[in-house]
Amino acid sequence: MANHVEFNTQLPQIEKSQALYQRGLQVQHPITQTLAKGPGQFSKGVAPVYLKKGKGARVWDVDGNEYIDFNMGIGPLSLGYCIPEIDNAIQEQLKDGITFSLMHPLEVELAEKIKQIIPNAEAVKFSKTGADVTSAAVRVARAFTGRDKVFCCGYHGWHDWYIGITSRGKGIPEALKNLSFTFAFNDIESIKNALDETVACVILEPFIFEKPQEGFLQELAEICQANGTLLIFDEMWSGFRIAMGGAQEYFGVKPDLATYSKACANGMPLAILTGRTDVMSLFDNEVFSFTTFGGEALSLAASMATIEFMETHQVPEVLAIKGAFMQDSYNQLAKDLGMHHITSCVGYPCRSMLTYQAPGQDALILKTFMQQELLQKGILWGGFHNMCYSHTQEDMEYTLSAYAEILPRLKEAIEADNVQILLKGEVLEAVFRKVTDHNIKPRI
Ligand SMILES: Cc1ncc(COP(=O)(O)O)c(C=O)c1O
Repeated sequence: MANHVEFNTQLPQIEKSQALYQRGLQVQHPITQTLAKGPGQFSKGVAPVYLKKGKGARVWDVDGNEYIDFNMGIGPLSLGYCIPEIDNAIQEQLKDGITFSLMHPLEVELAEKIKQIIPNAEAVKFSKTGADVTSAAVRVARAFTGRDKVFCCGYHGWHDWYIGITSRGKGIPEALKNLSFTFAFNDIESIKNALDETVACVILEPFIFEKPQEGFLQELAEICQANGTLLIFDEMWSGFRIAMGGAQEYFGVKPDLATYSKACANGMPLAILTGRTDVMSLFDNEVFSFTTFGGEALSLAASMATIEFMETHQVPEVLAIKGAFMQDSYNQLAKDLGMHHITSCVGYPCRSMLTYQAPGQDALILKTFMQQELLQKGILWGGFHNMCYSHTQEDMEYTLSAYAEILPRLKEAIEADNVQILLKGEVLEAVFRKVTDHNIKPRI
């Protein structure tokens, strides 16, 4: 019997997921195409491994178990699964074709639309993935400035210039690794000290879960400009979510270049680079960044429809309201239970994160317990509230009632020091984001 979204008496049965996983392990290396969706982020042995259907904010795994989804495809499902307006736009385009032998009118139409929405979008370029556009931005910044070094902060995708400075940098030449450096978010002084005439660009996520300090982004823009360094906002998460135009609109700070993907086409693969015409025009001749599927029309049609839907339904405002309800209610609950020193919901409402810590306890074990218990109640959860337009008040209240039932048991287990004993599957793995010691050094 499949589980539903209710206080089920048992964990979901996941035989089909497990069998598929075993088959996959025989032929796939790696087993997952996206780490955040892979088995390391869901407790092995208790969590479903494969999903096959979604509607609104609900998903069904291959064994037929139903869940409210708080991961939402790791960001792209800003509206929800199978939204009729978006699916119709894709289906209409499908009748005419997917990929063509010449450019498609939607390339122009969507670029015009993006220009209206995103403050720095004097010029627009499309591609397929987040890594495509962050890498294109870094390359064009190097070309424009005639400099090589990159300062970065956050996650920016799988390409050499960024992954070379992480713990997964094997296969990348040392010479490249020596050109990228990381800095601590909100630490303006360290950036000021390190910026010199060798730095092509500073690329950062304008916020992740920590809020930018008053004036940080503005000052960053000013020091970059004074140094002849281009400022790039990686708006993969913030774009079309905190505001239609992303953090640059929300904070009123215009970067030279900005990159978008995830939420812009409600699940279809599209990425967008926006920026100054004098920089972007280097792509016309000097700088190469082209790809066969770059003008694929289903994604362009999906993006047009997604943006239209977001505008008519004020989606960023709705996400802010729903997300704040989840965040505030969770934090109130933690306070009422005397657990605010153990857990809190941090970040901006549109995408918040749940944190767990207690002296002598492994945070991942605490998180695994929460995930396990939420799964039993029909909630697919990776420690985030990735809000989408389709999360209903009922979904949210139900999820809060699940938290209210589980958190006191977590508290009890922490006090008894037996959280790990209560786990029925494997402990979650640390999220891959680790950066090695390539921190920027102040200039002497
Ligand atoms: C901030 C940020 N930049 C870049 C990327 C890379 O995007 P993609 O996985 O589409 O290449 C991601 C992906 O999660 C991201 O979160």
